[in-house]
Amino acid sequence: MTGFVDAADILKGRYEEGADVKVRGWIYTSRSSGGIQFLELRDGSGVIQCTLNRRNIDETTFNEVERYPLETALELKGVVKKDERAPGGWELRVNSIGDVYVSQQDYPIVKKEQGLEFLMDNRHLYVREPKLQNIFQIRAKFLEAARDWFREKGYTEVHTPMFMTASVEGGSTLFNVEYFGRKGVYLSQSWQLYAEALISSMGKIYTIAPSFRAEPSRTRRHLSEFLHLELEEPWTDLDGIMTTGDRLVSHIANVLGEEIPEKVRKAGGDPDYLAGLKPPFPRMSYDDAVDTVQKQGVEMYWGDDFGWQQEGPLTEQFEKPTWIVGYPSGIKPFYHMPNPDRAEVTMSADLLAPAGYGEIIGGGQRVHDYEQLYQRTIDDGLDPSNYAWYMDLRKWGTVPHSGFGLGVERVLMWMLNLEHIRDTVPFPRDMRRVYP
Ligand code: 4AD
Ligand code: MG
Repeated sequence: MTGFVDAADILKGRYEEGADVKVRGWIYTSRSSGGIQFLELRDGSGVIQCTLNRRNIDETTFNEVERYPLETALELKGVVKKDERAPGGWELRVNSIGDVYVSQQDYPIVKKEQGLEFLMDNRHLYVREPKLQNIFQIRAKFLEAARDWFREKGYTEVHTPMFMTASVEGGSTLFNVEYFGRKGVYLSQSWQLYAEALISSMGKIYTIAPSFRAEPSRTRRHLSEFLHLELEEPWTDLDGIMTTGDRLVSHIANVLGEEIPEKVRKAGGDPDYLAGLKPPFPRMSYDDAVDTVQKQGVEMYWGDDFGWQQEGPLTEQFEKPTWIVGYPSGIKPFYHMPNPDRAEVTMSADLLAPAGYGEIIGGGQRVHDYEQLYQRTIDDGLDPSNYAWYMDLRKWGTVPHSGFGLGVERVLMWMLNLEHIRDTVPFPRDMRRVYP
């Protein structure tokens, strides 16, 4: 057979009742009742109900289809029908069958409750579940919306190495790599240092690439490999970069809420909330945030970093994502610019998502003065010689500049109200899992 259509297009009503179409996909569910065989066919775009009536199809074909195990892949030709009883309101009344790729019996993923560990061990099959398929499609739309926004606003996409010789976000989460027998090579935690070199070449830039963190903690929101959407802008200060963040995050939310509301709802999100999210986002000083947390009776002292114990209660009442601005130097990496009026805090800001989701963006203004950067490196206990090329940038046309990193999985988790970060990614990597 040739000329196949997508299940999703039938479900969207793109084909008139009575239209002859062909579909192909995998049998997701199968049951028969009263001389009718009901197949739910999953084709990558969605799941469409296909029915075979004993009266309209030859006996041998009907009996064969009845015996096909789940996940058998096949081609079907039939007539489009509107039917309230079918999931999604449309079905295909099948009149002939094309090629068939028969599956083995006893597909391990069954529709009843199965343990998390079992499902993670069988993730290579479990990724076929419509629930996950839906989230992965939303993730793709998310990235498309981000790239559209960057193109429209004049940013250029650029990629930087994953192998590097210095830490960006502190030594405790560095992954060591055995690099042709050489020591001191790590997986990238962030593109940032290279991005600061590239702004003098390309102006406003962004990347969408994995970052790696040897996070020893097992939490709902940490992966050891995550997708990092980062941007860097020359001639931009802290205020400017927060405004950029407001617009980018709102744009992505609006696209998801307006263009794929059904998918968002199915995943657990609220498309109306996302469609209605508008900049600017509120800003709160680090000092006020500490006060708020203390008043909530949660232990925290000025100078401490927020963990989920603090971010949870702090963000519970937020309606919009909110910037926490001006973190103490002691809890931010060396590259953050000290506040010229108050040296103990930095020109940094994290964006915290509401409802306990917490940090989704980290960024701020960078030190652009050579002497100051040298001193910050020493103060942070780092060896300046490891950052020689990075500091060199400050000698040749250094300008104020800022940037941030957004965790794609973190934002998806918040936008879709997911309980755990793992389902935003097909094959999640964490402390305990690198298989399959
Ligand atoms: O706050 P982070 O560590 O900031 C940086 O890496 C900066 N160098 C970025 C920049 O300015 N270009 O990480 C940025 C974001 C966090 O806010 C969070 O959303 C996400 O990356 N992130 C993680 N997501 C999932 N799992 C982890 N282990 C993550 N670590 C950070
Ligand atoms: Mg951070």
